[in-house]
Parts: sequence; C-alpha cells; structure tokens
Amino acid sequence: MSKLTHAQWSSKMTFVLAAAGSAVGLGNIWKFPYMVGESGGAAFVLIYLLCIGLIGMPILVAEWLIGRRGQKNPINAMADLSRRGGHLPAWVLVGVSGVLGAFLILSFYSVIGGWSLSYTLSAVTGTFSGLDADAVGAIFGGLLGSPGLLLLWHSAFMVLVVWIVARGVTKGLEGAVRTMMPALVVLMLVLVGYGMTTGHFGEALAFMFSPNWSAVSGEVVLAAMGQAFFTLSLGMGIMMAYGSYLGEEVNLLGTARTVIILDTAIALLAGLAIFPIVFANGLDLDSGPGLIFVTLPLAFGNMTGGTILGLIFFLLLTFAALTSAISLLEPVVEFMEERTPLSRVAATLTSGVAVWALGIAALMSFNVWDVPVLLGLNVFDLLDTFTSKILLPLTGLGAILFAAWCLDRQGVAQELGLTGGTETLWVSVTRYVAPLGVIAVFVNSLMG
Ligand code: PHE
Repeated sequence: MSKLTHAQWSSKMTFVLAAAGSAVGLGNIWKFPYMVGESGGAAFVLIYLLCIGLIGMPILVAEWLIGRRGQKNPINAMADLSRRGGHLPAWVLVGVSGVLGAFLILSFYSVIGGWSLSYTLSAVTGTFSGLDADAVGAIFGGLLGSPGLLLLWHSAFMVLVVWIVARGVTKGLEGAVRTMMPALVVLMLVLVGYGMTTGHFGEALAFMFSPNWSAVSGEVVLAAMGQAFFTLSLGMGIMMAYGSYLGEEVNLLGTARTVIILDTAIALLAGLAIFPIVFANGLDLDSGPGLIFVTLPLAFGNMTGGTILGLIFFLLLTFAALTSAISLLEPVVEFMEERTPLSRVAATLTSGVAVWALGIAALMSFNVWDVPVLLGLNVFDLLDTFTSKILLPLTGLGAILFAAWCLDRQGVAQELGLTGGTETLWVSVTRYVAPLGVIAVFVNSLMG
C-alpha cells in the first residue's frame, strides 16, 4: 500500500544540511584528519579531492537521481525505474542491499553513538579531570567491559534517533539538522580557535598539510577512494532515500558540490581542532576510537579549561553521530512506511526496536560475547566487515552502473544541465571511471 502524499524537503537549504549531516560523521572526525597526516599531507588532500570528484560526486548524484526519479524508498525506486525502463528486475537488489546495509550499520553505529553520549556526560561532570593515561584508559575499558553500561547508552542513543525520525522528514529530520549542523560548525570553530592559542597550531598545520609525495602509495590512493565513498554515506540507500524527497527544481550537481565542500571543510577543521591539542600535551598520535576516547580525554583532563573544551568536543561528536544515525534509519523507515500499513510513528518504532535488538548482540562483542561467530569474527566485527567491505561497495557500484547505463542518457543530461563536453565527461566518468574505482577498492578490501 502506498501513501498518497510523499514528503518533500521544505527548502534546498535543509536538504543540504540533511545530506551534509549524514556525510559528516565519525569518519570525518576520527579517520580523515589522521589519514591526511599519515599519508602525505597536502599530497593526500589532493588525491582525496580527485577521488571525491571522480568517484564520490558521481555516485552521490547517481543516488539522488535514482531517488528523485523514483520518489519512493530505495527498493521501490529501483523496482519502478528498472521496470519502466525495461531493465532486469534484478536491479531491485541494489535497493534491497542499500536498505539492508543501513539497517545493519545503524545497529553498531548506535553503540558508538552511545559512547559519545556517555563521554558527553562524563565531560559535564569533570570525570577526566587530573587523570593519568592509565586511569583514562581504564574508563574506556570499563565502559567497553560493561554490557549494562553499553546497553544503557546504546538504548539512550536509539531513543533519540527514533524520536527524531518518527516526527517525519519536515519536523523530525529537518528540525534536527537545522539546529545540530550550525551548532556543530560553531563548536568546531571554537575548538579550532582554541587550537590556535595552544602554540602548536603550526605543528598541526605542518602535520596535515606539508606535501609529502613519498608517503603516497597505491594503498594510500585506494584508502582515499574508500574514504571518499564512505564519507559521503554512499551505498546505504541513504542518499536515494534523501533524494526521494527532492523536488525537480533542485540542481543536483551544484548541491553535490556544496555538500562535498561542507563535508571536506569539516573534516579538515576537525584535524585543526584535534592535533594542536594532541601536540600541545605531548601525546601520541593515534587514530580511530583510541584518539577520541582515550588520547583526547587525557588531554582535556589535564589542561586549563579542559572540562568545557571536552564538553564542546563530545557534544560535537554526538551531533555528528546523531545526524548520521537518523540518515541511516530513514531508508528503512521509508520502506516500512510505504510497504506496510504502518504509520510513520509505528514504522519508526518497529524498525528502531529491531535495530536496537541487533545492537545488543553487537555491544556484547566487547565483553561477554567476544567469541567468533563466523569467519573468526565476533558479531560487531562481522557486521562492520560485511557492510563496509561487501554491501556498501556493491550497492554503490549498482547505483552508479544503473544511473550510467540504464537511465535515459538525454533525460539525465537535461536533468543535470549538461551539454556537449560536460555531458561526455559525465558519461565517461559515470560509465567507466567511478565504477572501476569502486571495483578497485572492493577487490583490494576483500584481499586485505
Ligand atoms: N558519512 C559518515 C562519516 O563520514 C559515515 C556514515 C556511515 C554515515 C554510515 C552514516 C552511515 O563518518
């Protein structure tokens, strides 16, 4: 049963904020700055921008195109578009794996979102004040070792996500990104401003930007491609779902450029916020969870104004995680809403509870259930590996191939405002360059 009215973004600006909110996530904060520093500074940034242009942007636009033309959840959009164009019904699998991917990812993304909620509270109460490295490490270890605590925070995070998404596209998603995205930018600027006063800002700039071509290897290029893909939340049905609420007047290429600029700027600013603090406190550079949940709290606990700066940082992290998490639930809810008689609220509650339950299996992987269940991986690692290495690249590949080879070429050119040379460029990039890039990352990550 399909509902009669389909939601629409109320303005182009809120659509940009929602898409950027999805794109700006943990990857921008705990992964990108470190990759830049380790993989050649400005040399890496250039390669990354090239990957964004040649792979990220075309796939982003392809997903929006599919969503906007389908005006439905990713599964129905793919089914309708392939039927209308007389293509194989199997294309629907692209939508299925997108929605499935979003569902699976949210289950463990929410566990990490819970960590950032928990750290926000710890920052408020000054928990890290004066602690040494062992004590800060013990706090993180204690959180991971306690199924009860993890469950509490995972549940709290999911309640927030469900509450926002249940309120619908206009009230829920737009309302959330309208406040959280500007707040995120302001908080980030405050932290960068603080970084400038530490006396170690130059060191951070040098670490991130001095070009070092010798650090660039084939591996690094593949990592840049992978990051370009992941950071734009591609291959999860998200951008298709967001595109389905788009009106015809929105210029997709221009909007993609804005979202990419925002995403990249925030990732670079994250480095300029984090590294001065790390250098000023003589801490070891680390990447991923260790940097965020151990190194930084250690720094915040031992500097003047650390309580408030720590609070700013973890609040920012929570906003980044929340605006990404709501985008992960949306494709699932849109599907349920359109394919079952459930109302928006009931569809959100049902999918939220299912995600939450799977998240419990994921969070037990850190403590009582840290046992291999398949291929030597525990549930958390299995969910992470299966989605990021298999489902996402295949969904993204399917989306770009469908948009490039199956949608009518003239219609797409017109829709994107392309003519002559730019049209040829678009066709060659979407038919060959972007798919080959995704295949390279896919094959490489399967072997790695
Ligand atoms: N784009 C997000 C980031 O860069 C990652 C993300 C993954 C977002 C999964 C939503 C879902 O961190």
